[in-house]
Amino acid sequence: MKAVEIAENIYFIGANIKNGDLFEGMWPIPDGVSLNSYIVKGDKTALIDLVRDWDNAPEALKEQLASLNIDINNIDYLVLNHLEPDHTGWLCEFLKLNPKVTILTTQLGKNMVKGFYKNEDNVQIVKDGEKLDLGNNMELTFYTAPNVHWPETMVTYNEKSGVLFSCDAFGSYGCVDNPFDDQLDDEKHAFYDRESLRYYANIVASFSPFVQKAIDKLASLDIKMIAPSHGIIWRENPSVIIERYRRFAEYMNGPAEPEITILWGSMYGNTESALAPLIDGIKSEGVTVHLHQVPNEDVSFPLTSAYKSAGLVFAMPTYEYRMFPPVAAAIDMFGRKHLKNKKVLRIGSYGWSGGAQKEFDSITADYNWDCLEPVEWQGGCDEDTKKKIYEQGKKLAKTVKEFCGV
Ligand code: FEO
Repeated sequence: MKAVEIAENIYFIGANIKNGDLFEGMWPIPDGVSLNSYIVKGDKTALIDLVRDWDNAPEALKEQLASLNIDINNIDYLVLNHLEPDHTGWLCEFLKLNPKVTILTTQLGKNMVKGFYKNEDNVQIVKDGEKLDLGNNMELTFYTAPNVHWPETMVTYNEKSGVLFSCDAFGSYGCVDNPFDDQLDDEKHAFYDRESLRYYANIVASFSPFVQKAIDKLASLDIKMIAPSHGIIWRENPSVIIERYRRFAEYMNGPAEPEITILWGSMYGNTESALAPLIDGIKSEGVTVHLHQVPNEDVSFPLTSAYKSAGLVFAMPTYEYRMFPPVAAAIDMFGRKHLKNKKVLRIGSYGWSGGAQKEFDSITADYNWDCLEPVEWQGGCDEDTKKKIYEQGKKLAKTVKEFCGV
């Protein structure tokens, strides 16, 4: 990654993380992730968002600052829009290099600077709508955006250029080479479309009502460019990512897309053998199916698919009187991420007695899922059972279409 001027006296800097680590210690990022920071120069210089000491990110940042002839010690303000350590982990080292910098953040942000970094020096609280004059006709305005992603979060806006520094909001997984939306071909756009949804489902989905509030709050600004702290910069068409995030946020309360995600696990193939009639039943109604097997896939991927699907099927056997554990773990994650308002079917085999359905009903009781009658069978799936499964798949697909109004 190299420093790029994105507007007059505003520069994109940062680092691509591609060392194979998990994001937040749990989410796979096979195509990496970018940690974007920004320099805004007036008479004074502001650095917006930082990096963590991860895959040589601080070295990358230092090199890019040097390429702009900026000495770290001469940065006047450090704007911390959000205190999650992917954007602040390098703070203590940064303060050693620049002990006189003024940190700008919200009141809750100040508390977190103390909590994470045991630092109370040089922190100045900014209020919602407060402005900072950098001189030379360059000004920053701060707007609180609580819970997008953490409660202390704010965004920063430069009215002159129309650039919104949105931190996690409007972000995506994936490294960034050419940073602007207008530099990408269709294939790259499709990649960031997929990875912005996966990022949203994994990281932001739980806070969807706050995303909607933030989008409404910022609607009065003349936003000409979205400069997030993960992923690409939206210069040609910022409304694409704003509307995409609005749609993602609306998925929480549904209906989401008229599609069905099948999450399945099978011990000896007896539940797996029911997938073909299930898929045939769904497809007979022309509804798109997404198939995910656990534990073979990390939950990040079925979570993403399930988040955008109005319909879900859980195909799993009973295991020791309860749910097949890998599917149970995924269902737990779906609950934690507030996947609500879904049309749902559960099917599966059992050996000597059931039990999976009882646990499924108990755990999902407060998920606000509308569940069809399940199909369970002992051992192998015979032809009569396959017919029932075909019919339930078809019924679920019809229900999803009605729910989505298609
Ligand atoms: Fe990119 Fe919530 O931190």
